[in-house]
Amino acid sequence: MEFFEVIYGRRAVRQYKPDPVRREDILKILDAANYAPSGMNNQQWEFIVVSGKKKIQLGDSYAIIADGYTSSWDQPQRDEFIGYARTYGGAPVLIVVLTEASDIRGISKMNLESASAAMENLLLAARAMGLGTCWMTGPLQDEPNIRRILDIPDNKEIVALTPLGYPVSFPEALPRLDPELKEKVRWVE
Ligand SMILES: Cc1cc2nc3c(=O)[nH]c(=O)nc-3n(C[C@H](O)[C@H](O)[C@H](O)COP(=O)(O)O)c2cc1C
Repeated sequence: MEFFEVIYGRRAVRQYKPDPVRREDILKILDAANYAPSGMNNQQWEFIVVSGKKKIQLGDSYAIIADGYTSSWDQPQRDEFIGYARTYGGAPVLIVVLTEASDIRGISKMNLESASAAMENLLLAARAMGLGTCWMTGPLQDEPNIRRILDIPDNKEIVALTPLGYPVSFPEALPRLDPELKEKVRWVE
């Protein structure tokens, strides 16, 4: 795919086919993430590729979160959403992105931004390869449990996670709030 096609074609995917993703394809995507820019060239990101029993445990954790925040929804919608959460939309793999934790605000910001750059590379590389992703922080509401399931030490910050898999479809891009970039851009001389 051409570069801008990838940019405009990436969407948050929430429904996946069960087809497995080849390990070499996952590595290719993570290699693209590993080529992101980083503060002080510290390359302060790590990735946990989750499948199998651990993915089921993360799904159970997210289902509890989903149960909590859909308590006011109609039952059918609620059941559907909790079912989605439990399987992460049926994605065969989850990738968790970590960075170095720091109590120093400037460092913490730099680390988070570096890992976010890696995360975006990951999403775009996946899209270029016909794979779907969804940047997610909602599941981190159950962070202590995620840390326990994946054995993540306190010196690592969990940045986000994404399902990875072949999408049922790539929806059309959502409209931009300011498509003409009249409000979001200020030109100064
Ligand atoms: C920092 C961040 C956190 C997000 N957290 C979630 C999440 O917890 N659950 C979810 O379904 N989508 C999450 N998203 C995806 C957004 O909802 C999505 O990117 C947005 O609605 C725009 O849709 P698009 O990505 O298809 O353009 C998150 C995105 C970002 C950048």
